[in-house]
Amino acid sequence: MTLEESLRQASARLQAVSDSPRLDAEVLLAHVLGVERTYLYTWPERPLPAAAAQRFRGLIERRATGVPVAYLTGRQEFWSLPLEVTPATLIPRPETELLVEQALARLPAGGSRTVLDLGTGSGAIALAIASERPMVRVCAVDISPEALQVAARNSKRLGLAIELLESDWYAALAGRRFDLIVANPPYIGPEEPEASQGGCRFEPRSALVAADAGLAALRHIAQHAPAHLEPGGWLLVEHGYRQGPACRALFAAAGLTAVETLPDLQGHDRLTLGRYQP
Ligand SMILES: C[S@@+](CC[C@H](N)C(=O)[O-])C[C@H]1O[C@@H](n2cnc3c(N)ncnc32)[C@H](O)[C@@H]1O
Repeated sequence: MTLEESLRQASARLQAVSDSPRLDAEVLLAHVLGVERTYLYTWPERPLPAAAAQRFRGLIERRATGVPVAYLTGRQEFWSLPLEVTPATLIPRPETELLVEQALARLPAGGSRTVLDLGTGSGAIALAIASERPMVRVCAVDISPEALQVAARNSKRLGLAIELLESDWYAALAGRRFDLIVANPPYIGPEEPEASQGGCRFEPRSALVAADAGLAALRHIAQHAPAHLEPGGWLLVEHGYRQGPACRALFAAAGLTAVETLPDLQGHDRLTLGRYQP
């Protein structure tokens, strides 16, 4: 079969499971062949070698069971950084780039500041900040040693130095303060269906789900932020689109000021921020 015929067959197989069957098939075929997707458009009539065809079929069958493309290729782009992801890490989402943008807006270029990324997963947010602000010292923590290993490999491969610590939120950070704290914690409530739907079924539940209608981690992070922020420092958290009012209340209860919720590109409440001004 030619590359184009293989792609057509694979897209048809993925119609029922994916919103983007053709794209998924192209990404997976390019991955199998070790080429860019443009190669598939340049050489559609080339035959697909038997060994590659077999591997491609295997990946398409796994995709047909719902496994996200990023777990099949082991790669996801975030902030233009090619990141390794595994089933131990959340697949970084485009909407989380808002958190990076807002963090960068509070970190002057060339300034030496300190940043803490709580629940770093693949290292996405920490590495994006490190890539834009080489003078900033970034510390990133996660409770999952497996996720931290992935973050360490991403840090090394991209040549972006960050400090990585295994920690239950702030537990390993006693006495340490930062100019800015960012977090994209688990925020789906245990009773909500999202974590058991679509690609989320394959992601770590501990990365997605938090007790107390999804607010437990957000509450802990807000409550203890003043003990870990420099005076004038900022806390920025990502949250669910219905959690803006609850997050603002948590920030206010923690004594943070200039509290504000910002929408994502879809216009949904996505990020709450506040300042520690003792
Ligand atoms: C929604 S994921 C975010 C991952 C990454 N920051 C991103 O945006 O792609 C939440 C992360 O929090 C971590 N996590 C969950 N509970 C934690 C805890 N008690 N302490 C530290 N990290 C935790 C999970 O392991 C997961 O990596």
